[in-house]
Amino acid sequence: MGKSNLLLELYSNLGTTGALTFSSKTLVRKMLNNVNFKGAKLIIELGGGDGSITKGIVDKLEPGAELLVFEISKSFCSSMEILFPQDNVKIINDSAENIYKYLEGRNADYVVSSLPFSFFSPELRDQIIFQSKTALTANGFFIQGCYSYLLKNQFKKHFQNVNTSFTLKNIPPAFVMVCK
Ligand SMILES: C[S@@+](CC[C@H](N)C(=O)[O-])C[C@H]1O[C@@H](n2cnc3c(N)ncnc32)[C@H](O)[C@@H]1O
Repeated sequence: MGKSNLLLELYSNLGTTGALTFSSKTLVRKMLNNVNFKGAKLIIELGGGDGSITKGIVDKLEPGAELLVFEISKSFCSSMEILFPQDNVKIINDSAENIYKYLEGRNADYVVSSLPFSFFSPELRDQIIFQSKTALTANGFFIQGCYSYLLKNQFKKHFQNVNTSFTLKNIPPAFVMVCK
């Protein structure tokens, strides 16, 4: 899928994509700076979209580590399946609230999300954050890229610590929230 078709898919589904463009390289770097790839065995990404964050993860994934990417758009999934044919990358065309169905008893070291939580119902938002927390190991981190500082309060309901940083180098400027 070319860049223009990816953007068309993004604009055609604003209610679920919640973005006018994909994450910038700076935002992706800022989010993934919080990931220690050396020790990570399982990483979960929520809202793969065009694969901009996925690529950042795949480029640094250690041999033997696995990445599960949840994405509700069939078109985005088909495109990512071509971009990331690696055996250790699983593109899952299902909602993030169903993470638990795919874990087979394992826990993840990191959940990296660009989901548009501000667009979700409170129930869906809580369900996905709860599922993410449950999926993590005791030392795991939930990392969110988002446009609204107010989301911090939603994450604080589930995580003890939420550290926030900001970058102007994204359209629109974005926050990175690291939750533990
Ligand atoms: C803001 S876009 C982010 C795309 C890309 N990861 C980036 O950073 O540019 C959010 C993505 O989340 C997907 N999405 C929305 N609701 C979802 C859900 N419940 N489960 C999984 N993916 C979802 C959308 O289809 C969209 O691709």
